[in-house]
Amino acid sequence: MNVTEAVASRRSIRAYTDEKVPLDVLTRVLDKARMAPSGCNFQPWEATVLTGEPLKALQARLLPAERQDPIEYSYSEPQKSERYLPRLQELGAQMYGAMGIARDDKESRNRFVEANKVSFGAPVLMLIYMERLHAAPQWSDVGMWLQTIMLLLREEGLDSCPQEWMSDFGRLIKDHIGVSDETHILFCGLAIGYGDRSDPVNQFERTRTPLEDQVRFAGF
Ligand SMILES: Cc1cc2nc3c(=O)[nH]c(=O)nc-3n(C[C@H](O)[C@H](O)[C@H](O)COP(=O)(O)O)c2cc1C
Repeated sequence: MNVTEAVASRRSIRAYTDEKVPLDVLTRVLDKARMAPSGCNFQPWEATVLTGEPLKALQARLLPAERQDPIEYSYSEPQKSERYLPRLQELGAQMYGAMGIARDDKESRNRFVEANKVSFGAPVLMLIYMERLHAAPQWSDVGMWLQTIMLLLREEGLDSCPQEWMSDFGRLIKDHIGVSDETHILFCGLAIGYGDRSDPVNQFERTRTPLEDQVRFAGF
């Protein structure tokens, strides 16, 4: 698989098979991802990877849990903008449309959002956090590391779904994995597994804005 194929075949997968993910495959991916770039080579990313009993135990705590207050950080500011809100609405229309969930069926929509708590059935959950002292540039570094991992997972035939929604339970999660809430902020989860690509939720068309709306060229 070349890079273009990895980029094109990666999508956020929200239904998985039961197939287990071997530790050596994950270690290989994460070892390669160490070469992701970061400003000043700070390498601000840290993570804990769970499967089996430790993952089940976390999910058992998450299922009855309420979202934490105060929040870990805000990931929804762009919803206040007329430029970005329609993008979220379009994603919802496509995703819930593929699952046959009607627009006004709030209960079914909420139930699917809650499926974030079990990472959509993925057998592996990677929890990604960083020290609180980091600022915007380091958040972007962690994002680059995340994408590097997601692409390397594709090379191994694996799928993933980043889950910032997990940050709504950041303190509970950090308590579960023994990470200090005082020093660390939970960025997101990453569901990992072999995707059930036949499931409609993994098949809807994903839209992107045209290149000319994203990038300007000059001097060519
Ligand atoms: C940092 C980050 C956090 C995300 N958090 C969630 C999440 O909590 N739950 C979810 O279902 N999808 C989540 N997503 C997936 C996005 O919805 C998805 O990337 C976007 O709709 C584009 O679709 P694609 O990844 O399938 O190309 C997240 C993506 C990123 C990059």
